[in-house]
Amino acid sequence: MGELDGRIAIVTGAGRGIGFGIAKRLCEAGAEVIIAEFRQELGDEAVKSLMDSGHKAHFQQVDVTNAESVEALAQAVKSQYGRIDILVNNAGLAEIGPTETFPLDKWNLQIDVMLNGVFICTQAVGRVMLEQHKGVILNISSIGGLGAWPMRSAYNSAKAAVISLTENIGCEWARRGVRVVSVAPGVTRTAMLQQLVDEGIASLTQYNNRAPMGRVAEVEEIAKVVQFLVSDRASYITATTVTVDGGWTAWGNLPL
Ligand SMILES: NC(=O)c1ccc[n+]([C@@H]2O[C@H](COP(=O)([O-])OP(=O)(O)OC[C@H]3O[C@@H](n4cnc5c(N)ncnc54)[C@H](O)[C@@H]3O)[C@@H](O)[C@H]2O)c1
Repeated sequence: MGELDGRIAIVTGAGRGIGFGIAKRLCEAGAEVIIAEFRQELGDEAVKSLMDSGHKAHFQQVDVTNAESVEALAQAVKSQYGRIDILVNNAGLAEIGPTETFPLDKWNLQIDVMLNGVFICTQAVGRVMLEQHKGVILNISSIGGLGAWPMRSAYNSAKAAVISLTENIGCEWARRGVRVVSVAPGVTRTAMLQQLVDEGIASLTQYNNRAPMGRVAEVEEIAKVVQFLVSDRASYITATTVTVDGGWTAWGNLPL
């Protein structure tokens, strides 16, 4: 028996990376997971991999910035299963550059996917959860939302706003059976990180040196905290952010 047996979960951006790791972990705990992913090929691949391991997973193509697409997702899941137990707002992308020349379209895309997308999904799925007086919404923020990282104005502004959104909606819905929590991962080994390394924008060696534990996080280390937070073991946790960064934000001295 898994602690999430029979729960219906939607994970956005679950085609790869942290989202896929979360989907896998929720499946292993017994949940049936909808991979709500923008890129068809990633969604198909993710579902195949989960089903090959004996899990229950489905792909629904979704653009979290498009309210109609998200409403269609919420209604499809509700009509198929009668309820939605868990929503993980994970979809994201990283665009980095100097603020003085940062293109407005890149700013808008980051805010659209990682802030407006969280709001749109929370609103559509939240309405279903409020009707059933039960549900958990988990937002993926970042340590970037907790402190300054030059060249990342758009990304970090979106992630800081997600922390605020979590607190606001968490309190607003606290007496209506819906918990809203957020996780702020530290630097985590994913394709997003690899892309920044490949582009010469980030250095894994520098990240490892900066991290008090001497290494970046593995996806599974984020996913297992998410499993706890969406489970009944976290029944009194809402409107707050859990930082999973190996001490990164606490550290204030020169590299160890
Ligand atoms: N990797 C890190 O170091 C790190 C650290 C802290 C927080 N995060 C956050 O974790 C989340 C996942 O990051 P990751 O490293 O796994 O990234 P990733 O790029 O590997 O995965 C992100 C996924 O989101 C999907 N996506 C993008 N736009 C979408 C849209 N409009 N609609 C639906 N899906 C969309 C992508 O197709 C991709 O599959 C992001 O929110 C990211 O900001 C990552």
